[in-house]
Amino acid sequence: MTLTLGVLISGRGSNLEAVLGAIKSGEVDARVAVVVSNNPAAPGLSIACDYGAEAVGIDPNGYPNRSDYEAAVVERLNAHQVEWIVLAGYMKLVGKTLLHAFPNRMINIHPSLLPAFKGLDAQKQALDAGVKESGCTVHIVTLKMDDGPILGQVSVPVLPGDTVETLSQRILVEEHRLLPRVIQGLNSPPPQLSPSGEIEGPASLPTDRGGRTTR
Ligand code: GRF
Repeated sequence: MTLTLGVLISGRGSNLEAVLGAIKSGEVDARVAVVVSNNPAAPGLSIACDYGAEAVGIDPNGYPNRSDYEAAVVERLNAHQVEWIVLAGYMKLVGKTLLHAFPNRMINIHPSLLPAFKGLDAQKQALDAGVKESGCTVHIVTLKMDDGPILGQVSVPVLPGDTVETLSQRILVEEHRLLPRVIQGLNSPPPQLSPSGEIEGPASLPTDRGGRTTR
């Protein structure tokens, strides 16, 4: 069944483009009905237009409070009867008005191996911490920032001499693979657990022993 998606962005839109490309190539059975940006000047809005999706900028500064802003976003999303919301570089915290409109139907991509390095500048946080491995995570959105059940993770090495730019680029390559894969997994029924906790039947995503999706 083809999923109807709404995508929220704030800027560049490379993850949005990865999703749109994966849909176009048939890798993902979904349709992006509408792309909403809190930044009306976001380059990602033109990417949405290039692929024929409705692209809307909704500036929070035009609303008296976050709830009214989010109500306007929800109205646009509901106008397209979207089933899942994808946060693809959406740089605003999600509040109750938005989340309660799509409970457990909103996913986010974050450039770290959550729960490590939540929030802004996750790649810099990883470099500063001196970890040997970082990566990206797709998770269900809750009211806690960069929290919620993890749907997929991919790790990348942190190499000697890495800068924020080189590490970010290595992670971004994997983001562009992971996000479409997780979205395609939303089409599958959740795996059934046996009484002993083993997964029976097709799991939506392959995982390695760390519970991360394999590449
Ligand atoms: C990505 O690194 C994503 O993980 C993070 O913000 C960045 C957005 O990049 N949440 P883009 O707009 O998809 O190019």
